[in-house]
Amino acid sequence: MENKSPIGIIGAMEVEVNSIIARLAGKESSGTAGLLFYTGELEGVPVVVAECGPGKVNSAVCAQIMILKYKPRLIINTGVAGGVGVKIGDLVTAECCVQHDFDTTAIGDPLGTLFIRREGRSEDIMKLPCDPNASRVLMEEARDIYGGAHLGVIATGDIFVADKEKNRWLGEKFGAKAVEMEGGSIAQACYMNGVPCAVLRAISDSANDDSPVDFPAFARETAEKSAELLIRAVRKL
Ligand code: ADE
Repeated sequence: MENKSPIGIIGAMEVEVNSIIARLAGKESSGTAGLLFYTGELEGVPVVVAECGPGKVNSAVCAQIMILKYKPRLIINTGVAGGVGVKIGDLVTAECCVQHDFDTTAIGDPLGTLFIRREGRSEDIMKLPCDPNASRVLMEEARDIYGGAHLGVIATGDIFVADKEKNRWLGEKFGAKAVEMEGGSIAQACYMNGVPCAVLRAISDSANDDSPVDFPAFARETAEKSAELLIRAVRKL
């Protein structure tokens, strides 16, 4: 029998989700904690879509509410990111996410190590897993449509990175291909709840000195590229 539980879709900014919300058939909305959750069918697939606002706390709260209220079978985070060794306009799908700003190194822990509770136990984790099947579907779709499609680590933190030294460090320290502000916290909420997740990002800027100019210039176009790809892939997820 067909699985009727929805796919959850989260974007931080309006431009990251508005083209998806506009395409929903049988659209309804409901609010919790100041967030609006839109339900409906995208290409015939039940989905729930929300704009969470920027950063790790906003996105984790949104993911947790979505999980408890709508019981999604998969959550996908779509949007834009700063590129780390990849070009503006390229697409990056996360093989896993890290939180680059979680730092307890002063008391001896490796950078980015998170301490979580899961299934009644404590656990240390740095690489937050993404669903390999969903990531493969998104990658295949990206390769079919666009030239620059990459599978790799996405680094998340509560910082808009506009600094080439920090960019180099993200590549060296974590092997990151993109940096953004929500994927790793959504992946953490999903992991703690046993819900599969995927993170899909189009590169809006190069996370360097040019970012204050490039981000506003390319955010809309690249956010829509990520959303468009997700719309094309949704029936296969
Ligand atoms: N999202 C888009 N560009 C970004 C950047 N340079 N840093 C963090 N998040 C981003």
